[in-house]
Parts: sequence; C-alpha cells; structure tokens
Amino acid sequence: MTEIKEKWALVTGASRGIGKEIAIALSKLGCNLVLHSRSVEHTNALSDQLSNKGIDTVSLEADLTDPDQVTQLISDIDNAAPQIDILYNNAAIMMPYHDDVWEIPADEFRKSFETNVISQIRLCNALIPSMMERRWGRIINLISGIDQQPQLAPYAISKAALRKFVHDFVPILEGSGVAMNSLDPGWLKTDMGSQEAPNSVASVIPGALVPALLSDGVSGREFQAQDYAGMSIEQALQKAEHQQ
Ligand SMILES: NC(=O)c1ccc[n+]([C@@H]2O[C@H](COP(=O)([O-])OP(=O)(O)OC[C@H]3O[C@@H](n4cnc5c(N)ncnc54)[C@H](OP(=O)(O)O)[C@@H]3O)[C@@H](O)[C@H]2O)c1
Repeated sequence: MTEIKEKWALVTGASRGIGKEIAIALSKLGCNLVLHSRSVEHTNALSDQLSNKGIDTVSLEADLTDPDQVTQLISDIDNAAPQIDILYNNAAIMMPYHDDVWEIPADEFRKSFETNVISQIRLCNALIPSMMERRWGRIINLISGIDQQPQLAPYAISKAALRKFVHDFVPILEGSGVAMNSLDPGWLKTDMGSQEAPNSVASVIPGALVPALLSDGVSGREFQAQDYAGMSIEQALQKAEHQQ
C-alpha cells in the first residue's frame, strides 16, 4: 500500500456526500487536504474537525460551472498547498429528469460539460505536469454507471466524456509515476443519488481509496467502489492487485 501520510490531496465537492466521505478517509491515513466546494462555509466544520486531528487543511471555493471561478481556483490551489499529490475530481452536477427527452435544453448539456468535464480537465492540466515532474501523482475522476437513461442525458453523456478523457491519456502517463483512473462509486444515498439509492454513502470506502493507494502507477482503469464494500483497505488492495 502506498504511504500517503503528509501527502496533499485536493477533493472537489468535499462538503457533503461522497467527497466528504473520501476526504475523511484520506485524513485517517494522515493525508493533508484541500477541501473544495462552492463556499468555504460549506467545508469549515469539516476543516475544523480534521485540523483537530492534526491534519493540515485548506478550504477553497469555486462554482465549477463558471470558467472564471475555475481559473481563480487553480491560482488559489497554487497558494494553498505546497503541492497536490492526489486529485479527486468528485464535484459534479446533475440536471433535472426530463420526461420529454427531445426537449432537453441545449444549455443543460453546456452546463453539464462545463462543470463535469471541462473544469475537471482544467484541474488535470494545471496539476498533472508538476506531478509528472515529481514522478508521483494520483488522479481519480468520478464517473457513473448510468446507462440508457436519456432523461438524464446531459449528466450521463458528460460522465462518458470524462471516462474517454481518462482512457485517451493512458499513453501520456505510462511510466511517469502518475496514474489517472476512473471511479464509479455505485448508486449511493446522497443529495444527488437520493434516498432511494440502495447503498449508503459510507460504502464508497474503501473502494474509493484503492486508485489512490495502489502502488503500480497504472492508468486507465475503471474502479467500481461497490466491489470493495465492507472490506478492509488491505483486503480491497489485495483484491484490486489480484484483478489486474
Ligand atoms: N450519488 C450517486 O449515486 C452517484 C453515482 C454515480 C456517480 N456519482 C458521482 O459522484 C460524485 C459525487 O456525488 P455525490 O452524490 O456525493 O453528490 P452531492 O451529494 O450532490 O455532492 C456534490 C458536491 O459537489 C459540490 N458541487 C455541486 N455543484 C457544484 C458546482 N457547480 N461547482 C462546484 N462544486 C459543486 C457540492 O458542494 P456545495 O456544498 O457547494 O453544494 C458537494 O460538495 C459526482 O461526480 C457524481 O456524479 C454519484
């Protein structure tokens, strides 16, 4: 298992749901954290909670739907932490369910792509080159298993684009020490997933940690967090290593 004590992770959308769960799990391994959401007020309580346990934390805010705020976020990250070693591109939006799939406004596709794809690629562009110079980094992009639900097309298609980004960048990252992979958390009880979801948000751990902790540095895989639900971190890593 890779030692991440005193490394720095940026978790976007860390104020609630899956991002918060991931941030807490990383902190338990001694990882310092940049906590992102749309307002620092949303992560202040979590930041205090983690600081009290000896973890260095910084809260940053940006609405990822707004390109100017993403530019500002990238510059704020530079000043907030000595470096980012682990990036969880977790924040995303899902547009309302449309019964009439032919009337989904084009703007909903644009907004979904800006938030769920372009902002995430911009964070990768800003952070991966220095990870490559240091010859270590982990990028975990949250995708979705959503399939054949055209009523949610802006969300589903944006997640498919992000998956393709991960796939196509494999040759660039090979042998660099930097690994970029996708993570499908499963359908979870969060604000986005709703209370109808079959899985608790806690079930995303330890699976969500696997792509950060595997030491092989391989890119382009799609991890299913629910494959590891109920396991210890060690068991989850053993299973992931075995599956390669
Ligand atoms: N839940 C599921 O069943 C499920 C299934 C498959 C994939 N996923 C993926 O898992 C990730 C996390 O989902 P979740 O269920 O934890 O979502 P969630 O409970 O709705 O939380 C969303 C997080 O993203 C932030 N956020 C929302 N809109 C934003 C914006 N415009 N700009 C910047 N940050 C924004 C929120 O921060 P604020 O405090 O500012 O609102 C919050 O921290 C997403 O990528 C999602 O697509 C979820």
